[in-house]
Amino acid sequence: MSLLERIDISKLPVHIAIIMDGNGRWAKKQNKPRVFGHQSGASAVKRTIEGSAELGIKYLTLYAFSAENWNRPKTEVEALMSLLVSTIDKELNNLIKNNIRFDVIGNLSLLPASVKRKVDFAIEKTNRCTGMLLTLALSYGGRWEITNAVKKIAEDAAKGLLNPQDITGKIFATYLTTANMPDPELLIRTSGELRLSNFLLWQSAYTELYFTDVMWPDFNKEELYKAVLSFQNRERRFGKTTEQL
Ligand code: IPE
Ligand code: IPE
Ligand code: MG
Repeated sequence: MSLLERIDISKLPVHIAIIMDGNGRWAKKQNKPRVFGHQSGASAVKRTIEGSAELGIKYLTLYAFSAENWNRPKTEVEALMSLLVSTIDKELNNLIKNNIRFDVIGNLSLLPASVKRKVDFAIEKTNRCTGMLLTLALSYGGRWEITNAVKKIAEDAAKGLLNPQDITGKIFATYLTTANMPDPELLIRTSGELRLSNFLLWQSAYTELYFTDVMWPDFNKEELYKAVLSFQNRERRFGKTTEQL
């Protein structure tokens, strides 16, 4: 049986989040510049979006650029930004054709104006799509997001719109950038690193984590299927005992 055939379509993770890591090391191994790795990473993004949509995943969230990635060399940051714009240009029609809605989360006020315009354009062009929601985490950091939510909650409380006693986890989550989606059920990180790097800190409280040594530019549908199969073989207890499930 192929990997795809082994997947139980009735038990798919509703939301998959991916930390797309390893572009630079992948390029270095071939004596190529890091940017070459990022360009090849864009092809892996395309394969992953396609594979996820074909499976019937409802939410796919891709960590494309972290709040901390602004600290990389200026030339690399610029190359990543221009790759983002050119990839949106190239892929937007495909997204629409496949009924995929595009969105971004992160501190977008830090993005160059041209990138912000392109991102807004893609969001608007796909806003009537009803299939998978593809969210790019761009200039995103979990601590930034949580801090921002706390600020908004404090403002609402000061205005009398919210009683501090009424704040619950559910209400808190409505102040996050992911208010419109369920928490990720499966989080994949490529490249062998075993950390979250400030990705979806609140939302991943009960997420199943899947780490693979595959570098992001080598990621493909088969690797995605392996992650989904691993997810399907786990018992998610949420604090309960096996007998209670
Ligand atoms: C992931 O690959 C892409 C971004 C973080 C933008 P890296 O660029 O982090 O690649 P490595 O980890 O250095 O190999
Ligand atoms: C995390 O990768 C961010 C993205 C994949 C966009 P990094 O390569 O920036 O993470 P660290 O620095 O190794 O933790
Ligand atoms: Mg990295």
